Amino acid sequence: MKLPVLFAATAAALATVHHEQVPFIDQHINPAESAVQDWWDTLRNPSSLLSPVERKVTETIRRTINNVVDLDDTDDNEDDNDHPHQPPHRRPPGRGHRHHGDKTKTIYDQIKESRYTTKFAKLVEEHDEIKSLLDDTGANHTIFVPTDKAFDRIPHHPKDPPPKEFILALLKYHALAGLWPVPRILHSYTLPTELSLETLGDNPQRLRVNLGLFFTLHINLYSKVVAGNIEAKNGFIHAVDGILVPPPTQAKIISLLPTTFSTFSLALEKTGLGEELEKEEKRSGGTLFAPTNKAFQRLGPMANAFLFSERGKKYLKALLKYHVVLGETLYSDAFYKPKKDDDEKEQNVETGYWHVDLPSLLDDKAIAVDVKSWKGFVTITLNGFNKVAFKDGLASDGSVHIINKVLIPPHKHSRGVPTKEEEWVDVSEEVVIKRLQPYLEEEKEEMRDL
Ligand SMILES: *[C@@H]1O[C@H](CO)[C@@H](O)[C@H](O)[C@H]1NC(C)=O
Repeated sequence: MKLPVLFAATAAALATVHHEQVPFIDQHINPAESAVQDWWDTLRNPSSLLSPVERKVTETIRRTINNVVDLDDTDDNEDDNDHPHQPPHRRPPGRGHRHHGDKTKTIYDQIKESRYTTKFAKLVEEHDEIKSLLDDTGANHTIFVPTDKAFDRIPHHPKDPPPKEFILALLKYHALAGLWPVPRILHSYTLPTELSLETLGDNPQRLRVNLGLFFTLHINLYSKVVAGNIEAKNGFIHAVDGILVPPPTQAKIISLLPTTFSTFSLALEKTGLGEELEKEEKRSGGTLFAPTNKAFQRLGPMANAFLFSERGKKYLKALLKYHVVLGETLYSDAFYKPKKDDDEKEQNVETGYWHVDLPSLLDDKAIAVDVKSWKGFVTITLNGFNKVAFKDGLASDGSVHIINKVLIPPHKHSRGVPTKEEEWVDVSEEVVIKRLQPYLEEEKEEMRDL
């Protein structure tokens, strides 16, 4: 039926692309035909119901996360369900297709001249900063360009358009500094964009990369690269089928995924920790290890009944605080540390293996993080044994890693991090009390009074 049409439309996403040069074609309907205006309306009016775009994006993310979390039925689940970045028996998409595009023209010229990117071109046209970036030949750039199809469902709001700064941030979120051909992207888990955020300690917001079905390259789970490696005089263009929307806060992400996080949400609310974190004035990134409903279930009915009782509330708060890191943002392949020297903001991490101890909100007690990557798979392990089920969730104020086992705070007076596996499965109230008692906030005040 419409397949040939679709193929032709996508293949010709950029006028300069020939059919046989398109590395891979996606025939699926984009689940997240995002709309700038729509998103803006939601941001402006956060109490409103989810906008259609937000609902679609959320739905895609929710489905992916649920799949990952539900598959994780064994205690030693290997990994999240991401496919390896380099499938062993197939050539990664885009490889060997280095000829298309026009190396005599800048990125800006090619976007402007293409019949298939008129909408993005129009946005660029209105923002000199982006225009000159894409026309700049003093440095190389890489840009993800949503095709006109990606904009198709933008509702028409003639009055009250989003402010320029909002569109500017959105455009910057589509651009990377330097040359990022598809093979380089496939060797990454996250990509630093040109959008720097104060709430990330003036570090770049990132994009998340994974390989989907039929070896399509997905950006932020919901946007697929439909034509990659289009060369320009000053870099690369990759056409995508969904607008890349800068992610919301960690808190919002948790609240948007109730089927995964309703217990965690309730805990944040009951203990007041959620509110305290929201009030945090100068956020400069952070890492949240978000326990799923399943993680709480593992603790068993006794522990849950206690933790969620009035009496157990302060214990619950102590437990939650061990899942929150402020000021340091960890991704599989990047780590944003607090600023010491200006030139040392981002720690470029080794591929292969790296380790860091992150100070939690619970008396700075450390969470030991090991990141191992091997042949395109990456595993993040916490405190030696707790494997992250879904990694590199992106938020405007940090990263979110999803875990199916609650992190157990170390003994108050122990140094360093646990050295043997410890897990609370169907534990009693006494076990919880014994471990967490020394950390209680009230207790500390009482001690001071003495
Ligand atoms: C851009 O990349 C090309 C290809 O690697 C390189 O030859 C050129 O020097 C780069 N341009 C700048 C300004 O760095």
